[in-house]
Amino acid sequence: MSTRNLDLAVVEKALKSCPFGHPVFFRETLSSTQELAKELARSGAAEGTLVLAERQSDGRGRLGRRWFSPKRGGVYMSIVLRPPILLSDAQLLSLAAAVAISEAIDKVYNLKVQVKWPNDILYDQKKLCGILGEAAAVGEQVIYSIIGIGVNVDILPSLLPAEIRERATSLRDILGHEVCREDLIAAITKEIYRWTKETLYEGKKEELLHEYERRCGTLGQEVVVESGQKVLRGVAKAIGPDGALVVSTAEGDLSITAAAAYRLRTARLA
Ligand code: BTN
Repeated sequence: MSTRNLDLAVVEKALKSCPFGHPVFFRETLSSTQELAKELARSGAAEGTLVLAERQSDGRGRLGRRWFSPKRGGVYMSIVLRPPILLSDAQLLSLAAAVAISEAIDKVYNLKVQVKWPNDILYDQKKLCGILGEAAAVGEQVIYSIIGIGVNVDILPSLLPAEIRERATSLRDILGHEVCREDLIAAITKEIYRWTKETLYEGKKEELLHEYERRCGTLGQEVVVESGQKVLRGVAKAIGPDGALVVSTAEGDLSITAAAAYRLRTARLA
């Protein structure tokens, strides 16, 4: 675990010239930063509002999973977005976050991470960071979206739940020393501003998809897609314009969206 608590003043100073990250809400313990961010969004919080916690008692992951969030072990943050996009494009927000976080980690630590579709950040095939994108809409128009980010910063592998121990890593594991979480939070927030407000909202979707594809380690891999009883094998070949993964299977091309109850794993080749 990090040896000191987050210093909010340091985060605020680093984000002084960034339009996102204002205001910042910091709590020692939250059930989930997503819940506070949602509450704030419902009461009109501005785009870029940032929620941070030192620990989460009920951290949430995708597909109903839990997110292990011990005190000072990670970065647990949620950002309120007010994107001028339709619900059918909401997946692109999580893709933008995946690109943003990869870029931030590269800039701050000079680490080359990979994105596993839709939005896991891996280092050396192990999960370093997860993203949970949630959106609320009126009709087809998104009125707010909450992007939740969990980065494993300083978690001893032995403390991780057994089922994820072999498949997870942390910045401490990789770098071998303690890192400054404030720097990371600020860098991620700045990159999220860049890839949402300055790119996606500005109609530069192609630029985003191109950068995402460049960083996505899933493309070209043989994958197994499970949905209910159905299991399909195929090769991940592209990212669709809405952020779906296009998988070429024996039954033809299949476009899979992250919102559907699909589970995706890289096939183990015999
Ligand atoms: C996943 O990979 O399943 C997504 C994990 C997202 C975890 C973050 S931690 C901050 C925010 N609050 C939550 O409860 N979840 C997200």
